[in-house]
Amino acid sequence: MNSKILIKAREYEAKFGPKISNEERPVFHPTPYVGWMNDPNGVSYYNGEYHLFYQYNPYDTNWGLMHWGHLKSKDLIKWEFLPVSIAPDMDYDHAGCFSGSAIELPDGRHLLMYTGVIENNGKDGSKDIKQVQCIAFGDGVNYKKYENNPVLTGKDLPEGDSEIDFRDPKIWYDKTEKCYFSVVGNRTADGSGSILLFSSNDVKKWKFVTVLDRCNNEYGKMWECPDFFMLGDTAIILTSPQDMRARDLEFHNGNSNIYLTGLYDAKNHKFIRNEVRTIDFGLDFYAPQTTLAPDGRRIMIGWMQSWESCRCQPKDVKWFGQMTVPRELTEKNGRLIQKPVREIENYHKNEIIYKDVVVRKELNLTGVCGRSIDMVVNIRPAGYKIYDKFEVKLAKNSEYETVITYNPQTSIIKFDRTNSGFCQDIIMSREMLVANNNGKVKMRIIMDKFSVEIFANDGEQVMTSTIYTPQEAKDITFNAIGNAVVDVEKYDIVL
Ligand code: FRU
Repeated sequence: MNSKILIKAREYEAKFGPKISNEERPVFHPTPYVGWMNDPNGVSYYNGEYHLFYQYNPYDTNWGLMHWGHLKSKDLIKWEFLPVSIAPDMDYDHAGCFSGSAIELPDGRHLLMYTGVIENNGKDGSKDIKQVQCIAFGDGVNYKKYENNPVLTGKDLPEGDSEIDFRDPKIWYDKTEKCYFSVVGNRTADGSGSILLFSSNDVKKWKFVTVLDRCNNEYGKMWECPDFFMLGDTAIILTSPQDMRARDLEFHNGNSNIYLTGLYDAKNHKFIRNEVRTIDFGLDFYAPQTTLAPDGRRIMIGWMQSWESCRCQPKDVKWFGQMTVPRELTEKNGRLIQKPVREIENYHKNEIIYKDVVVRKELNLTGVCGRSIDMVVNIRPAGYKIYDKFEVKLAKNSEYETVITYNPQTSIIKFDRTNSGFCQDIIMSREMLVANNNGKVKMRIIMDKFSVEIFANDGEQVMTSTIYTPQEAKDITFNAIGNAVVDVEKYDIVL
């Protein structure tokens, strides 16, 4: 039996979701059926299809009482809306069904593991908040919460750890140890984050294994949305730290995103950290989650928004919040490499190719324009002398433009959306350092109506940001100070 709260949410989205036309949405980036979307949840392959759940407030385009919205896809590019899957309708999650993950169980059921939030008013008027971990079983559309929820509570925490910040379980099955594991974000007595590892034989009874890593007040405070997996011999932790202080070009946005590389001693469940780096340098990227595709690829989807810029919504929007393009992750020299999943190429239309174009002033290339595109720009010096600057302007007309600049002297790519149409004055540009290759740089630019994702040098660095520029601004220009040569390969993405 579905609860009144779930029925109400399903009725609401069924009424208002279809009123949002395809024209108002990106072509291939997931958006909420209606209202608000944050973190990707339950990214999983179930019953032959990919499922993507999300933090969802159907009733408003701002964060609120969290439900789990639901989408599915055969190929990670073309998504289909499914009815909202879980709602905050139990005493252990009445203040929100927060982030979590999903897997397919051997008996064919789909399992969701999520954080339930309990909020009561304390006697002195303060709020008494507790976060607990819960599970639900389903068939890919309907989910039933487990009768003995929650499965993890404050009682399961190490001494001194916080019950208020205990959230975002990421579950997986370990074939070697023949048991389930889950990493959960937590806050330790020093006020900063840690990642706890729990194990279970049946997904219902969990036991604390170890603290996989802890922040020690070095990388922000609370570590949200942890993920843990191997890429070859390298162990990778992804997490999104709150209250993070930037250092030079890394760790921006306040609510930031990092990956930790290291070694994993699986026998003793010990993660030995090596390095900490930014996953995505853009203005809008948070809370990524991965899953394993059936062919073994590690696929990551992130929330394509930042908490700082959530107030900056266009007027009268009916949806707000988007997901990134799904990215295949690999590891090279201890670094995370990200590439848009190859399935996107099935939707390439209207190929335009230019080779060896000399650029010394601003120019258009016939056919190179559009707002939902996949474009590779290969830049190099025209002769032995390296140019001073190369610029690609996107989403452009006489009023608007979004500018990507490459400076070969510093090897910095800068993204600037100052003139993209925002009516709020917040930080509008960001920079990232890429490999210094004597003026050679390759950028793959994925645009989809309201966003720009830049993959530098085959995914060595990535930068993701939203732009809410009116769609009629769709010109693209290239410009160089000094002489540069460019190859351009551009496709429209048409579903
Ligand atoms: C991260 C986060 C999670 C939490 C969810 C609530 O963006 O704060 O830690 O589960 O959002 O919507």
